[in-house]
Amino acid sequence: MKIERRQILRLLSFSGAASLLGFRAYQSQAQCLTTTDILGPFYLPGAPEMAQLAPAGAPGTPLFITGTVYANDCQSPIPNAKVDVWHANDGGGYEDDHYRGVVYTGDNGQYTFQTILPGKYLNGAQFRPRHFHYKVSVTGTELTTQIYFEGDTSIPADPWASSPDVVERIIPLSEDAQNNLHGVADIYLDVEPVINSQGGQNAEPGQAAIRYISPNPMAGQGRVQVFLPKATTLSLQIYSLQGTLVAVPANGKNFPAGIHEWEIRAENRHGLQLQPGIYILRMLADGQPVDAKRFLVGR
Ligand SMILES: [Fe+2]
Repeated sequence: MKIERRQILRLLSFSGAASLLGFRAYQSQAQCLTTTDILGPFYLPGAPEMAQLAPAGAPGTPLFITGTVYANDCQSPIPNAKVDVWHANDGGGYEDDHYRGVVYTGDNGQYTFQTILPGKYLNGAQFRPRHFHYKVSVTGTELTTQIYFEGDTSIPADPWASSPDVVERIIPLSEDAQNNLHGVADIYLDVEPVINSQGGQNAEPGQAAIRYISPNPMAGQGRVQVFLPKATTLSLQIYSLQGTLVAVPANGKNFPAGIHEWEIRAENRHGLQLQPGIYILRMLADGQPVDAKRFLVGR
């Protein structure tokens, strides 16, 4: 089933037809950790390992979610973290056999799944806001939480979603030309990063990868950090959601093995401010695309 996840990752990464956005800049350890939320009554253990949560032809608005699972230093991605997701169908009902799945993060800590926008359901007299339930785990650590969506009018009256510590878990959604929705839900687990160890649960990725883009959303400028396992000819390219190349922060120079960081500006190649929206940072190592992450340029 991991092949399916990789196929979707590749589709999202390089087609330009679908994209997602990030929602948080790390600040300090205490601030970055993702807060918990209630488990709710509809969790079922043993969900299938699959990245397509909604059954084929299911009613509802198609929705693509991606994110990166980070360690408690707020910047080290965690490979092979288990992300268990479940949510209501378009009508607000939970189903035993659909709308649930397990995906694992890749070497760059990134995960993705596709489904439909969760429906609302009544909790007493109030509708719960649309939400995803998450259980995110690595060996010895498990986080149970929920992800909500900006602009949901049911949030203020919901006893859980209206909590002040939920703010970082209310994510914006963007619509593409095909009316699909896209969002990013980064998760910060309270586990230590393990740098350059071998076989650790969150060991430094063995493949060239973008470690993070920060802040995300970005206003005027930000930073990109990459990991190279060996000396590499590296290029970094920024594409719009429509697939147009808009900027080239790094262009074919050779870099030694290790962690490298660049300042990037939210500007195109002509020095003009990028329009607010979703952009894709694509990384090429020795001429081959090896990684891509999305970021949001804010207003
Ligand atoms: Fe729920």
